[in-house]
Amino acid sequence: TPIAVLISGNGSNLQALIDAQPHSHYDIQLVISNRPNVKGLDRAKSAGIETLVLDHKAYDSREAFDLAMIDALDAKQVQVVILAGFMRILTSAFTHHFLGRMLNIHPSLLPKYPGLDTHQRALEAGDSEHGLSIHFVTAELDGGPVILQAKVTIEQNDSVETLRQKIHTLEHQTYPLVADWLASGTLTLEDNKVRFKGELL
Ligand code: GRF
Repeated sequence: TPIAVLISGNGSNLQALIDAQPHSHYDIQLVISNRPNVKGLDRAKSAGIETLVLDHKAYDSREAFDLAMIDALDAKQVQVVILAGFMRILTSAFTHHFLGRMLNIHPSLLPKYPGLDTHQRALEAGDSEHGLSIHFVTAELDGGPVILQAKVTIEQNDSVETLRQKIHTLEHQTYPLVADWLASGTLTLEDNKVRFKGELL
């Protein structure tokens, strides 16, 4: 299944998806970054994957930027879109176009802490656990149906940095698996509900 990965930076999740590709049902056709010169673009190029920089600052509106992305993705017959540290809010035109075909990974146990600074917020709240969520993307920011969550226990000596590392490790272990499920048709979205092999989750 032809897929694309959208990034804005480091791309360590992109790397995990690249590494798992040989034994997966997806084929990364294109990596789009809204920022030039980021490490994730080098990772894609090293793997021989086509890259495209669409600098959002070059567009008059979110709508125009998103339409340019849709054109690029459709031109490559991309069936599934994986957001991997893509730091732009998407328009409803974009989320609608890829509804049921687009995943995001978010470093919190949603619905807790949508948005930024999730590790800081979990620490400040005194939470005993934290984690990540992989979800279908809908028009609501970090609000689409959750597919899978992985948890870590917050220890007394944890900091933003230790939590970031622990969660990144879990992200790299889980995101390629869920991307594979979506690419193979094992995972579907029907009436805003997640199904795994046709069964409601
Ligand atoms: C990850 O923590 C992910 O949950 C969030 O952005 C970060 C991306 O990291 N959406 P990387 O660029 O994949 O290293």
